[in-house]
Amino acid sequence: MSSESSRIWFITGCSSGFGRELAEQVLLTGDRLIATVRKADALDDLRSVYAETLRVVTLDVTDAAQVQEVVAAAAGEWGRLDVVVNNAGYGLLGAVEECSDAQIQRCLDTNLMGPLHVMRAVLPILRAQKSGHLINMSAAATLSNYAGFGIYGGAKAALESISEAVRAEVAPLGIKVTLVVPGPFRTDFISRSLVKADGKITDYEKTCGQFAGFLERINGKQPGDPTKAAAAIVKMIHDGKAPLRLPLGKYVTEKIRKRNANSERELTEWEAIAVATDY
Ligand SMILES: NC(=O)c1ccc[n+]([C@@H]2O[C@H](COP(=O)([O-])OP(=O)(O)OC[C@H]3O[C@@H](n4cnc5c(N)ncnc54)[C@H](OP(=O)(O)O)[C@@H]3O)[C@@H](O)[C@H]2O)c1
Repeated sequence: MSSESSRIWFITGCSSGFGRELAEQVLLTGDRLIATVRKADALDDLRSVYAETLRVVTLDVTDAAQVQEVVAAAAGEWGRLDVVVNNAGYGLLGAVEECSDAQIQRCLDTNLMGPLHVMRAVLPILRAQKSGHLINMSAAATLSNYAGFGIYGGAKAALESISEAVRAEVAPLGIKVTLVVPGPFRTDFISRSLVKADGKITDYEKTCGQFAGFLERINGKQPGDPTKAAAAIVKMIHDGKAPLRLPLGKYVTEKIRKRNANSERELTEWEAIAVATDY
């Protein structure tokens, strides 16, 4: 692919996990990439190989002013942005009551406000181009949440709802929006990146404690392969597809089926009462 026809990607949180895998695969296909990291040297190995097609910038997505600056510079780099991936994020583990206000704020700022800052900064650019694809990383917790992931799952659920609205708003303007919904994948998500609640309340041991135990047991053994996840995202883009949701991993496909069946069962049980409340 010539540099004129290659796509230009902007991906947040490229130091590890999905972001790092995506970065590598995007560059391998010959596309160009503006990768954001928090530690400036995080992608030095890739930078030496892809001097022409990779730009690395430091960005903390919670800093709205910095997002504006970085996005403006990114759009100026090669004159447009084709694929924007809101990947940066982390989990906060603990009962809603156990998390401190500061922890809750930081989690919402990163997982919800961060992607929102990026979306709102890139939308004027994509609207002017009349093209572009926004990809927001969601999570299995949005399908039905776990005890112990309330704040994190809540942030991702709000991101899902906003993304659905944005998708409807910008579809007539030539812009696509997709939510990527991964199950457990072998990244740094439940090791280095996971933040544990400041508080500890023994009443939550049987619920949140059990979920924490599950995460501990699957750490390093998650069924999802981030290399394959990145390949699926790249393929979706190269095929010109834009589903509302791209689920990744068998865990999540089974969870969707179960959630749908439970919703249907509950709807059937309550339907008569629901419809009887109309005038
Ligand atoms: N892996 C899973 O099982 C899983 C499942 C569902 C959803 N997800 C989602 O997938 C996305 C990527 O996570 P991952 O699994 O690849 O985990 P990861 O390996 O821990 O990567 C997370 C990335 O986000 C960056 N980041 C965190 N806070 C940031 C901030 N305030 N500003 C900028 N960058 C920030 C990290 O940067 P540093 O290196 O500087 O910390 C890192 O690059 C997240 O949105 C996560 O919620 C993951």
